Order: sequence, then structure tokens, then C-alpha cells
Amino acid sequence: MLGEVDVRVKTFNKRKLIIDTDPGIDDAVAIAIALFDETLDVKLITTVAGNVNVDKTTQNALKLVEFFGKNVPVAKGADKPLVLELEDASEIHGKSGLDGYEFKLPNRKPIEDRAIVAMKKIIMESDIPITLMPIGPLTNIALLLSVYPEVKGNIQEIVLMGGSTTRGNKTPMGEFNMATDPEAADIVFRSGVPIVMCGLDVGEDALLYPEDSERIKRLNKTGDMIYSLFKHYRGGSLHKGLKMYDSFAIAYILEPEMFETQDCYVAVETSSPLTKGCTVVDLNNYWGKEPNAKVCLGVDEDRFKEWLINAIAKCI
Ligand code: RIB
Ligand code: CA
Repeated sequence: MLGEVDVRVKTFNKRKLIIDTDPGIDDAVAIAIALFDETLDVKLITTVAGNVNVDKTTQNALKLVEFFGKNVPVAKGADKPLVLELEDASEIHGKSGLDGYEFKLPNRKPIEDRAIVAMKKIIMESDIPITLMPIGPLTNIALLLSVYPEVKGNIQEIVLMGGSTTRGNKTPMGEFNMATDPEAADIVFRSGVPIVMCGLDVGEDALLYPEDSERIKRLNKTGDMIYSLFKHYRGGSLHKGLKMYDSFAIAYILEPEMFETQDCYVAVETSSPLTKGCTVVDLNNYWGKEPNAKVCLGVDEDRFKEWLINAIAKCI
């Protein structure tokens, strides 16, 4: 009993978070930061097909929570986008999705509930609204909001990594997470749930250079593991600069004032074969529509890098 009360007291007043992810090397950094931040209560990690298939992203999420020694449930999610076939990003993250570090095979397994069932239970049972942090394709989030629309009333906001006000990184106009599942992204942006979009614009802004990676390596066991992953990460290069896309979502949740943002109407292209998955951000309000997203346009680069390194320093 006392232990239970102790846990309750410890998590009281913390911001409740669900991470939906396709680990993924940059996902691993964002997950580490979230799990060790004292102000957050990470209730659940759900996995989705994206960087690699969902069996691998699930295994990778289990490897990470075991590596960090955190008792956070992992629930397996969608094994493919709503309509398109999965085109993964194993050329960026390696065949395993976390190439570069030999994790022990995890003892723990995913919980029995699949992702949207687990998310729905946690959201509906929570005494305070929950923040969702999707850092992969939005398949699970679209399914959650479509199958259980009642959850919308207890979601504080969706802080997602994805999209771009300019060009893409999977196709000329499609950022990977949005272009992998454009139909899901369209459902989420039309859902009416408050959205913060941390897109490529920000990711290109704050690269990690060799001196930054060396500092991270020397921090602790987590920093050493992340450095090993960085050596295989093709989201930039260890020498030219690494793009920490998913860390911008957790950075916004923890330090929103680092970001320049604008409330805009965002639409997702779902039909053109040329621009499918493009997030069309109406920065000048040509369409006169009510904004449906807070769009991150930039970040204070030096501040972000110091924040990131200090956040990793809090890990084991
Ligand atoms: O475009 C970057 C996004 O695609 C990141 O979430 C990265 O992990 C990949 O999923
Ligand atoms: Ca990701």
C-alpha cells in the first residue's frame, strides 16, 4: 500500500505522455530524454511501422525501455500505413532500425492490448488530459481518433514530429512520417485535436556537429550508446552534422519557448502522385481558415543543443 501511495505521490502533478514511435535512431534519443525527465510521467510507448517494420520497431522500443531500466508498457501498433504499402527507412537507420549498438535481447514483451486499445484505456482513465507525442507515421493516431473519437476530450495536445513548410526528405515535397501515411496524417490534421507540428524546417536548423557528439559520448552509458548509433545514422553524418528530428518534439513539450511558432491552417495532400504527403502550411492565411496547428518555424540552435546535451546528461 505504502509503495502504491509513494508512486502516486511521485507522479502527481507530472505531465502525462504517450509516445508513439518507430525507433529509429533519432526516436531513441527522444525516448531517452522523455523517460528521464522529472516533469513527465510516460504512461505508454506505442509502436508503428515506419523506419522499419512494426515487429522491429516494437523490439527496438522494448530494447530501449530495458536498457533504461524503465517500467513503461510497450504496445504494438499498426503494421502498415492505412492505404499505402510501407516503404521503410532502413537505409537511414539500418536493417534493425537501431544499427550501431548491440542491445541485449529484451526479456520483456509487449502488453497484450494493441496500441489503440492501450492508448484509449489510458486516456479515458486519466484524471488529467494526456499529451500524445507521435514521432513516426500517424497510422496509430488516425486509427485511435477514428475508432475511439471519445478520447479527443481528454487529449491535451498532439505534439508531432513531421511535415514541413517547405520541401520533403522522403519525396521532393513529402517529409517521411507524413509521406509514409498521408491518409493518416490527413485524418489527424482534420481531427480538431490541438496539434503542434515540429517539422523538417526545425530539424534542418540545429545539427549536431562532431564536438557535440563527442560531448554526448562522454556523458554516461546512454550518451555512449547514442554515439554508437550516431555512427550508423544516415540522417546527416557524424562529421557533417546530424539531424535530431524527433528530439524537437520532446524539446517543444519541455521547453516550448525555444521555438518560433505560428498558428496556421495545415492541409495534407492525399491524391497527387507527385506531392502525396505534402503538408501544405497556409502561412499567409490565403484560405481564411481557422488554424488547426501550431507550426514550429525555427528553434534557437545553440539553446537547443545545450538543452539536448543537458537532457541526455540526466539519463543513466
Ligand atoms: O523525417 C524524419 C522522421 O522520419 C523522424 O521521425 C525519423 O525517425 C523518421 O521516422
Ligand atoms: Ca521517428
